[in-house]
Amino acid sequence: MKVDVLLGLQWGDEGKGKVVDVLTPGYDIICRFQGGPNAGHTLEFAGQKYVLRSVPSGIFQGDKINIIGNGVVLDPALFKAEIEQLMASGHTLTDRLFISKKAHLILPTHRLLDASNEASKGDAKIGTTGKGIGPTYTDKVSRNGLRVGDILNDFDSKYKKAIARHEEILQRMGFKYDLAPIEKEWFEGLEFLKKFTFIDSEHYINNSLKKGKSVLCEGAQGTMLDVDFGSYPFVTSSNTICAGACTGLGVAPRNIGNVYGIFKAYCTRVGSGPFPTELFDEAGQALRDSGHEYGSVTGRPRRCGWIDLVALRYAIMINGVTDLIMMKSDVMDNIETIKACVAYKVNGKETEEFPFDINEGVEPIYTELPGWKTNMTKMQSEDEFPEEFNNYLSFLEEELGVRIKFVSVGPDREQTIERYKD
Ligand code: GDP
Ligand code: IMO
Ligand code: MG
Repeated sequence: MKVDVLLGLQWGDEGKGKVVDVLTPGYDIICRFQGGPNAGHTLEFAGQKYVLRSVPSGIFQGDKINIIGNGVVLDPALFKAEIEQLMASGHTLTDRLFISKKAHLILPTHRLLDASNEASKGDAKIGTTGKGIGPTYTDKVSRNGLRVGDILNDFDSKYKKAIARHEEILQRMGFKYDLAPIEKEWFEGLEFLKKFTFIDSEHYINNSLKKGKSVLCEGAQGTMLDVDFGSYPFVTSSNTICAGACTGLGVAPRNIGNVYGIFKAYCTRVGSGPFPTELFDEAGQALRDSGHEYGSVTGRPRRCGWIDLVALRYAIMINGVTDLIMMKSDVMDNIETIKACVAYKVNGKETEEFPFDINEGVEPIYTELPGWKTNMTKMQSEDEFPEEFNNYLSFLEEELGVRIKFVSVGPDREQTIERYKD
């Protein structure tokens, strides 16, 4: 049995989509297990660029089965737009993209509730992607949600009941809205969704495992956005960590094999919330410029900073990472001196342990390393790596205690170097 998991170790946008695409040939089934269209996973190959939101990133290499698992929240309107865009570029998915009947539906009013909640928080807003993620998971946990399987059975009355409840909340909050246009789009999406096969994905996946098939689970967001272990309350509303693959797909913990933890050679974050190594000067702007650090969902500039090894060690621990994957090293090709945060000073006391609260009073302690000042984007093997880059890799492996199996030197599928072949 083999279920491998690939997930983000930072605050999202580490490059998960790219690497899932690269690893897809080694698997039979690729699954999303949490999150929804708050995700934006970018892939580049053959001069084309694709941004996936709800569709797993395993759709481009071979005719692999792709599954949207029960832990995902799905917006039919955005799903339709995403699929239509893929169809326009020649990718038809109805026969190999399956959707769990237990995945929860993002209703049009969930998006309004997301906006209304954010507005009511004022300066303390989370800076969500506005896709209705929080309210949909709230309804799931409070046992009010609607699931994909509900579409097949007396849907209208369930829908009306849910909308009435949401409208009452919106009116109580004094939120002004116009439901009709988004509702129309949503129902068009719902009709479109019915073209796809709804499955009991937990049975499908476990039966496939029994037949010797292999599964790759694609995380969305990142560990520091996990609802339990992230920088709460500035997090998303799902379990983005490895355990989320068990609950979000119905996979038993003992069937989890490799856990690929992916991180950028530096660090970024979108939305509000603490970010100890954030740079507010021209160094941060340089990372933003050379890394094109603008959100793939909302277009917002991403906040940029140095790599945070305290947060990374914590993420590796929580997820049981077996292999690391370092992305966007080329973005640091021109940097003279690189900084890496090796510890925090919290209220004057030095610690290497990730604290309960990083909202205030956390001061990063840095180690400096010389930059490699070499264009790495055309490199094909690690034999070509400059000495300073090898030193950076060794330093990170030593600090993090896990090997860095892949290094990415550009956005294209081809710009990926495997360092350990097993
Ligand atoms: P995801 O959400 O984790 O899938 O990541 P995103 O797609 O939101 O953000 C990663 C961005 O970095 C995308 O624009 C990718 O095309 C790009 N990217 C991925 N790997 C590399 C890399 O090694 N170098 C550079 N320069 N860009 C990369
Ligand atoms: P991928 O999968 C980066 C952030 C939002 C906000 C917080 C909560 O592309 O890495 P939500 O809409 O989930 O309620 O927003 O989480 N966020 C992401 N940041 N990448 C993502 O996804 C994100 N998904 C949500 O910016 O701070
Ligand atoms: Mg992204």
